[in-house]
Amino acid sequence: MQISLEEQFQQKIDQEIKIEPKDWMPEKYRHTLIRQISQHAHSEVVGMLPEGNWITRAPSLKRKAILLAKVQDEAGHGLYLYSAAETLGISRDEMYEQLHSGRAKYSSIFNYPTLNWADIGAIGWLVDGAAIMNQVPLCRTSFGPYARAMVRVCKEESFHQRQGFECLWVLSKGTEEQKKMCQDAINRWWWPCLMMFGPKDDESPNTMQNMQWKIKRFTNDALRQKFVDMIAEQIKLLGMKLPDPDLKWNEATAHYDYGKINWDEFWQVVQGNGPCNKERLAARKNAWDEGAWVREAATAHAEKNQIKISSMLHPNDINLGS
Ligand code: 3HC
Repeated sequence: MQISLEEQFQQKIDQEIKIEPKDWMPEKYRHTLIRQISQHAHSEVVGMLPEGNWITRAPSLKRKAILLAKVQDEAGHGLYLYSAAETLGISRDEMYEQLHSGRAKYSSIFNYPTLNWADIGAIGWLVDGAAIMNQVPLCRTSFGPYARAMVRVCKEESFHQRQGFECLWVLSKGTEEQKKMCQDAINRWWWPCLMMFGPKDDESPNTMQNMQWKIKRFTNDALRQKFVDMIAEQIKLLGMKLPDPDLKWNEATAHYDYGKINWDEFWQVVQGNGPCNKERLAARKNAWDEGAWVREAATAHAEKNQIKISSMLHPNDINLGS
């Protein structure tokens, strides 16, 4: 019996065979992956900005070196992800253009400011913690290049999370002022981190199809719940509190119940009206404009090398060929 290309494609996915760039795929699958992977890459790169804000003000040489390495890791993650998206037939310039024109999204979380040093710890522990919860399952996503890129990304992210926890741990054992800073950072980052997982399942237009294609392995709400369960336990070690009076262990479900998320705030941020959206986009556009001379010089250098190589090869090629 003859089965359609679409059915063959779904069978491969059901059998856990990875889809590779040259395989046949439905246009909607390609489009969804370009959307998700490029948004993910943009998030990594825009995510360097709030942390970069503290590189010159890190409290010690050790903290500065750690933060520099972490921000460089995020740049590397962006590059693997842009490369993975390119295998689907979109160019890097197109992806940048989509970001700069506001057509492509990036994670809502990076539109919040980093006001004090404890924010760097909170980003590591909570933001990278939420990112890992979402990204470990992506190591098994159905598209091969994305899944393979995520393996290394997740290893690095798990180090980021531990360093963030350790940074807050030190503050939580410090002076009254340091403890206050630590609690204040947790208070400000907690709810935006829950929003990172995306809208509730019943308001998420992409989840159902993405689960069937095994792009996603868990729904937004399932991952959000795992994150709450993990952090509600870890925070006890810091002796701090999560800013949610409704947070409570539920014996019946064996999960923590948590309070209502402000979805209006989430959509405002996603639509460009968060506290730092304009600043973040302006910084990325500025970096693009200021990097024009580097791109031109690199292209000219590559062309010059190409000419050199072909003129060196030319006589030999003829001799060998004859
Ligand atoms: N911020 C901005 N937009 C978001 C969002 C968020 N936190 N959550 C969802 N959205 C957008 C979606 O992109 C989608 O918009 P679109 O259709 O116009 O593109 C819309 O809201 C509806 O959401 P869905 O749940 O239907 O969308 P998805 O099925 O794509 O799920 C997702 C959203 C869970 C974020 C998924 O795309 C995903 O897993 N992406 C890969 C991981 C990723 O991008 N993480 C970003 C953080 S990376 C990071 O934190 C860097 C690290 O260094 C810390």
